[in-house]
Amino acid sequence: MRQKMAAGNWKMNGTSASLDALQALAKAHPAPGCEILICPPAPLIHRAAQSAAGTAITIGGQDCHSAPSGAHTGDTSAEMLRDAGARYVILGHSERRSDHHETSAEVRAKARLAMETGLATIICVGETLTQREAANTLDIIGGQLSESVPDLATGENLVIAYEPIWAIGTGKIPTMAQIGEVHDFLRTRLEARFGPGVGRSVRLLYGGSVKGNNAAEIFAVPNVDGALVGGASLTAEDFSPIITALD
Ligand code: G3H
Repeated sequence: MRQKMAAGNWKMNGTSASLDALQALAKAHPAPGCEILICPPAPLIHRAAQSAAGTAITIGGQDCHSAPSGAHTGDTSAEMLRDAGARYVILGHSERRSDHHETSAEVRAKARLAMETGLATIICVGETLTQREAANTLDIIGGQLSESVPDLATGENLVIAYEPIWAIGTGKIPTMAQIGEVHDFLRTRLEARFGPGVGRSVRLLYGGSVKGNNAAEIFAVPNVDGALVGGASLTAEDFSPIITALD
């Protein structure tokens, strides 16, 4: 039985005042039926982890470097994230793949080190609208999955987020059949590579314009184990109904 997950990715949003939202969320969900993860921007991680201590909320990072330390100005290591109180890290988000030209090979290297450092990873995959319209969705996602996920993945250290790029921040979502097709495909591929034990225990999140008013429908799709939420994770008012839809 996979534990459901409501993961909030704050992206490049928030200041220390945003920690109030975290407190409000913790208060509203003292014993949630799912894992609640908040991934604030790097400068807030330490304070967020302190603020979340003793609550049902776990804290994660949004990226880390593939090297353990060294001359990489502006970057954050997996060890730094752990030291700051993070337990997860999002890797290979489409915004990292486009803004920072990250390849799947780089994502895999980051994931390997993050896992070795004791962080669980949320590895993102997803197609552009052009790729979907050309009927290439499963090819693209299959390639990203096999190239981005390292061999040491387990049900504990790997979560996959399917995020169609055209659905991120647009208010558009795929049909439930389209979400189901991709999630079934991901499950089959994971089982084929890692065997049924690990393959069935990896959680599969959907991400892209998840809101309180569409969450329940999306969560009813087989093989959807929760959501990776951007905009609607920024306030307790917007994120709370999504968490409740997983209860
Ligand atoms: O990481 C989160 C996703 O990119 C989804 O963002 O919920 O604002 O569409 P969104």
